[in-house]
Amino acid sequence: MKAIIMAGGNGSRLYPLSKVSSKQLQAVYDKPMIYYPLTVLIAAGIREFCIITTPQDQYRFEQLLADGTQWGISIEYRTQASPDGIGQAFLIAESFVGSDNVALMLGDNIFFGGDAFPRAMAEFRSGATIFAYHVTNPGDYGVVEFDREGRAVSIEEKPAAPRSHFAVPGLYLYDNRVVGMARTIKPSARGELEITDINRAYMESGELYVRRLSRGFAWLDAGTSRALQEASAYIETIERRQGVKLGCPEEAALVRGFLDLDQFCAVAAAMPACDYRAYLEGVATETRRIRGAGH
Ligand code: G1P
Repeated sequence: MKAIIMAGGNGSRLYPLSKVSSKQLQAVYDKPMIYYPLTVLIAAGIREFCIITTPQDQYRFEQLLADGTQWGISIEYRTQASPDGIGQAFLIAESFVGSDNVALMLGDNIFFGGDAFPRAMAEFRSGATIFAYHVTNPGDYGVVEFDREGRAVSIEEKPAAPRSHFAVPGLYLYDNRVVGMARTIKPSARGELEITDINRAYMESGELYVRRLSRGFAWLDAGTSRALQEASAYIETIERRQGVKLGCPEEAALVRGFLDLDQFCAVAAAMPACDYRAYLEGVATETRRIRGAGH
């Protein structure tokens, strides 16, 4: 499975923070926001990425992430000229998707905990798999409603009167038919190709699988300055308590075997002296000890 990360949009809710820097490049505690979704996908075993940005921000993303070889992955870039919706991702990245299945992740979604995503990706066969997460404010999101058997019976984008408390987070898995479906949907009242309309099309053909994320799993969105601050505080709390980092693509690549220990150490050695490098060096030491490599 390949993955698209959607990192476009004008970040208007973050203004003036977003005036000269893309939303998905803002700091969430100690690293750029896009590190978090990227790490979730690497940890789930994905190696081929396409990142969609605005035309003016593409250069900055390339500076930060390059072509991915430093992490044992590949990254292609595409641009979305105007914010015409998440559903447009499949049209913009059609040549990248080719004949594969594809995960779509929103660059401002931060997840932490459990193995729901790696499991869902490993078990994915066909159709669409999305997730559901209980929130206090479902009307701000895509909302999914279940029947007594736990099957999805409705899915609506930011409804004024939500039919459930289950919001749909920004990670979606699709078979290759999604590209064709994206071509058939029409822009919504707000003028966007809605991901929710694609999910509804899968639901209506009986091929939408919704997995509920458990209690204790964290889903934060970082679209407003308050949410950004809360996400930073959350990440800091966990990192300080556990002495491990969230959203560290180098570490995820090492654990997944995309980088061997020597390559991992070379990536760290190329960084200036900083806490992040010191952390990676600590990971290398611990990995050597655990693996008993003895050097
Ligand atoms: C988008 C989707 C929505 C989803 C949300 C998750 O909304 O349209 O269905 O629940 O992302 O973050 P946006 O916040 O981009 O308007």
